[in-house]
Amino acid sequence: MGDRPLALVTGASGFIGRAVVDAAPGPVRVLYHRTPPSSGHPSVHGDLLDPKADFAAWTHEVGRVLHLARPAAGSGWRRRRIARRTKAATGRFVAHLLRENVQALAVHGSLSYGDRGEDLVQTSDPVRPTGYATAYARGEAPWREAVDAGHLALVRAPWVLGAGSWFDMLYAGPTVPVIEGGQAWMSIVTTDGLARWLWTQSEARGVLHPPLLARVRQADFAMTVAEVRGVPTTDVGAAILTARYGHDATRSIVASLRLDDGHGDQSEGEPARAALRDAVHAVVASRS
Ligand SMILES: NC(=O)c1ccc[n+]([C@@H]2O[C@H](COP(=O)([O-])OP(=O)(O)OC[C@H]3O[C@@H](n4cnc5c(N)ncnc54)[C@H](OP(=O)(O)O)[C@@H]3O)[C@@H](O)[C@H]2O)c1
Repeated sequence: MGDRPLALVTGASGFIGRAVVDAAPGPVRVLYHRTPPSSGHPSVHGDLLDPKADFAAWTHEVGRVLHLARPAAGSGWRRRRIARRTKAATGRFVAHLLRENVQALAVHGSLSYGDRGEDLVQTSDPVRPTGYATAYARGEAPWREAVDAGHLALVRAPWVLGAGSWFDMLYAGPTVPVIEGGQAWMSIVTTDGLARWLWTQSEARGVLHPPLLARVRQADFAMTVAEVRGVPTTDVGAAILTARYGHDATRSIVASLRLDDGHGDQSEGEPARAALRDAVHAVVASRS
């Protein structure tokens, strides 16, 4: 990689991908799927799902790949269908990366571990997906198999806090929901913190958890947001969420995931809560 500093970022137009491109410490090529690149970096046009995708052009002179492209769909059966196609496409992409010996890291969701209550979830824990991951975990399977065989790296990202994505969907309304009593654990990173850390993982292999900003009960997160925004909280049950967002989204929202980031209880202490308040302030300020 030393003599090939160029990095390919797939999913570069996405919620996390934009932050990853902004945090790049060196030259970057972005994969341009549908959304035209806005970063000014050189791009290569392509569709992961295209059986004729020219991976050789994507990775020409590339020393490392940060893979954040995730073909998504808006309903359960569409998600299952696209996950089947993603599995085949990921298999082709992984085979190419291994053949070309390119260091590569993919960002996937931690919902693949399932709803885990009070468990401290380890990188070695088995996959038993819930919510969106019941479909998307199929799409990531070939990447997982390569990781299990000692190649490539897979980051299981938890709640990624930034303007957009789930924060806008759940926490930007006139009241802030305390969901199902608020006892579920939320493991939280910021988009910028995650992006900067991803670039430090140039030699990584295996399953990784990013260092957390904070690990809090959902009620504590909701109260932090309510306080920062100056709006009230409201109790919300799974039935309301299901009516509003559907079954998969609700299972994703209520899942309790207390990810182990290798730093013990640090992310549950007062300094972490203060950092969380600051991060929520920053997100709220950037939206107004
Ligand atoms: N958002 C979170 O809080 C969160 C938390 C944990 C884990 N994750 C995981 O992190 C990854 C990225 O998430 P995100 O929130 O950044 O996703 P996102 O905002 O939905 O972005 C998805 C990216 O994938 C690209 N893409 C979609 N279909 C493609 C295809 N067929 N070929 C090539 N590129 C394609 C999109 O490009 P176009 O717009 O051009 O189609 C977009 O750049 C996902 O695996 C997700 O599960 C996200």
